[in-house]
Amino acid sequence: MNKERKLIIAGNWKMNKTVAESLDLVRGLKIDLANVKEVDIVVCPPFTALGEVSKAILDSNIRLGAQNMSEHNVGAFTGEIASVMLKEFSVRYVILGHSERRQYQKETDALISKKAQAVHGASLKPIVCVGETLAEREAGQTEKVLQAQVQGSLANLTKEQMVETIIAYEPVWAIGTGKTATSAQAQEAHAFIRGLLVKMFDPTVARKVRIQYGGSVKSSNARELMSLPDVDGALVGGASLESRSFADIIKNSI
Ligand code: PGA
Repeated sequence: MNKERKLIIAGNWKMNKTVAESLDLVRGLKIDLANVKEVDIVVCPPFTALGEVSKAILDSNIRLGAQNMSEHNVGAFTGEIASVMLKEFSVRYVILGHSERRQYQKETDALISKKAQAVHGASLKPIVCVGETLAEREAGQTEKVLQAQVQGSLANLTKEQMVETIIAYEPVWAIGTGKTATSAQAQEAHAFIRGLLVKMFDPTVARKVRIQYGGSVKSSNARELMSLPDVDGALVGGASLESRSFADIIKNSI
């Protein structure tokens, strides 16, 4: 597939996989994906498996991501994880503002923006998630919601930082539901987000930023979604928990 930007496909394992299960999964992925150079491949295990997975993928084309990070660097923040702790395991990417964290941990755009700056401050790359709920889409609020999330979560980033930021457009109604956005819905939302980046930064920055689609991506729909002009990768939940299905998504996207 000929793309303007290199595809980045990341597996968000969420709160799944013990260390032993994580190692099984990455061993499978290493074999299945050994020859893939066309796509940036990322796995985001739970914190407890980062250390072992990091060792297991050392000599591979698979990169490591975390699912969250504190906006603080050190100190009395019980239960939080700082950038320096992630860097110890060669983590390169950090998912921020996933809709589950926005919903269950009440993360706001202002907090996500602070976290994005902390991630960049540590020379890591944030994957910043945005997306509307079903009620918002049905009320015709999709663009308004995306605008508020993109402007709020990416506030105060420099142009250089923005180019190294990945955005994941994940319509909440498509996450874990088996309901995928149609190609037209996905392309429209991605183009809208890129248009916002033109206004917030400039056309050159907007052209460079990779925007992933997320929400019930599977091997059967990956190719069509990844072929859309403004879709530059995928953030995959359920289908990333099994090596064959995640590997097939990546292979079908090439
Ligand atoms: P899903 O999750 O692929 O299971 O829909 C995507 C996500 O939440 O990132």
